[in-house]
Amino acid sequence: MALVPYNDSTAVLGKLRHPSAEFHFANHTVRLAQDWNRLGVAAVVWDAAVVLCMYMELGHIELKGKTAIELGAGTGLVGIVAALLGANVTVTDRAPALDFLSANVRDNLPPGLQGAARVSELTWGEGLERYEGGAYDLVLGADIVYLEETFPALLRTLEHLSSQRTVVLLACRLRYERDQRFLSLLRGSFAVQDIHYDAQRDVHLYRATRVTRTRDL
Ligand SMILES: C[S@@+](CC[C@H](N)C(=O)[O-])C[C@H]1O[C@@H](n2cnc3c(N)ncnc32)[C@H](O)[C@@H]1O
Repeated sequence: MALVPYNDSTAVLGKLRHPSAEFHFANHTVRLAQDWNRLGVAAVVWDAAVVLCMYMELGHIELKGKTAIELGAGTGLVGIVAALLGANVTVTDRAPALDFLSANVRDNLPPGLQGAARVSELTWGEGLERYEGGAYDLVLGADIVYLEETFPALLRTLEHLSSQRTVVLLACRLRYERDQRFLSLLRGSFAVQDIHYDAQRDVHLYRATRVTRTRDL
């Protein structure tokens, strides 16, 4: 699967071409390296990540002392901010993105918080036994609903990581009809609420919790 699914002429590339992006969250400046030409979508910060960080920073969800896992972390903004806000975070992406991700995570956590985030390979649907089932308080994902061929594997991953006490937060820009189809799939095993819409960035935030259907009993 290509790491760069967008055509170079896409208008969105403007700010994504900058070699770095800077944010202020949780009383910290987060400075992230970006490298579109080398790693494409995994090495730039997407608006959905910013919206999810804003939501977390506003205290809408408790992070302190919680265990969290981020899927498709890219540059790691969400995982870094979750760690700055007190969570113990596993920050994941596919293997080619990990060196870049690790450097961004390391460079943006103060010495006392280096242990609060660990970077780990997780390709959706693969090797899930390496991650304890249902063990996380929070599963976080920003702009990870965009490749239809990954939807079944992404759903299996969310199901594996979640128990009924887990809160899944997905920040999504719904670009295509097919993205809605993922939400329909998700509703098969999770109760899904649209909890926030950032109109400026056109990003929806969904909160999902695992449900047991009577057919599962
Ligand atoms: C649009 S980027 C979003 C990156 C980051 N979350 C953000 O919002 O800035 C999508 C991310 O999903 C990751 N991804 C795509 N397919 C994946 C798969 N099958 N398994 C794991 N990660 C995947 C990509 O490597 C990339 O980092």
